[in-house]
Amino acid sequence: MTKTDFNDRMLSLGLARVSEAAALASARLIGRGDEKAADQAAVNAMRDQLNKLDIAGTVVIGEGERDEAPMLYIGEEVGTGKGPEVDIALDPLEGTTLTAKDMPNALTVIAMGPRGSMLHAPDVYMDKLAIGPGFRPGVVTMDMAPAERVNALAAAKGCSTDDITVCVLERPRHQELIAELRSTGCAIRLITDGDVAGVIHCAEAAKTGIDMYMGSGGAPEGVLAAAALKCMGGQMFGRLTFRDDDERGRATKAGITNFDRVYTRDDMVTGDVIFAATGVTDGSILPGIKREVGHLTAETILMRSKTGSVRRMTYRNPT
Ligand code: FBP
Repeated sequence: MTKTDFNDRMLSLGLARVSEAAALASARLIGRGDEKAADQAAVNAMRDQLNKLDIAGTVVIGEGERDEAPMLYIGEEVGTGKGPEVDIALDPLEGTTLTAKDMPNALTVIAMGPRGSMLHAPDVYMDKLAIGPGFRPGVVTMDMAPAERVNALAAAKGCSTDDITVCVLERPRHQELIAELRSTGCAIRLITDGDVAGVIHCAEAAKTGIDMYMGSGGAPEGVLAAAALKCMGGQMFGRLTFRDDDERGRATKAGITNFDRVYTRDDMVTGDVIFAATGVTDGSILPGIKREVGHLTAETILMRSKTGSVRRMTYRNPT
């Protein structure tokens, strides 16, 4: 194998271990009201496991800039250095508050692709739009108004707008969006956190009941969600939004020159990608960590874009 071969098939099982380890480490902090401790436990475990993999990895989506995050910061090199050169996007605990409050859909998330294949998204907001697989390209677009998107998706599905459910983060900044969506008669699934899971829900609409994701959330989470949809199928678009010059500066530092660009799923993740997520608290995509006397059980979803394979793995670990 040359230094640049991305052996996604072999690496994927290692990636599942990384995601599992982070979830298991945060298990004792579920429902304990301490976001920071839960996140730290997941970060430590994820980093330990990543450093066991035979990769020359660079974190491109991580815990923050080097001066803000001592571990798994953007640019940190991970792995033994002996394998292929890969980029890594991760969120050791997506939904720290969900975990601290034992609310649904907290996940550990990690994606890996060949060097240079993932958008280096700065820590700013991204306006997001996602739907699941099976629709013609461009059935919904960023240029459409929110109500127009609901109408277009309902027409494509051959159903009424009443039968469409849109997932949105419950935030004051989404008041207008929510009002416009309500005018169409669609249902809105409001979530308090965790828009990676929010987007992934669209890929399994029959199971989750969610047809479309809309609204702004973290740009790094947008790249992680794009990686998941690249494996599962589905369309996703994202546009960075900036509140001030400091945020524009972050984007410039990350190499972004066109601040108005609409990124498609495949602009955010340009090559083959592998993706793993483990349930921390119970959710529509994955069950959470189950605690029983003597052991913990975790469920992981492991996917590869090259094959479109989606594997679910249950791991029982003695405590
Ligand atoms: P944490 O895991 O860091 O708590 O973030 C969760 C999250 O809800 C993301 O899923 C989402 O993209 C982002 O926060 C939204 O940011 P904000 O809370 O500022 O609206």
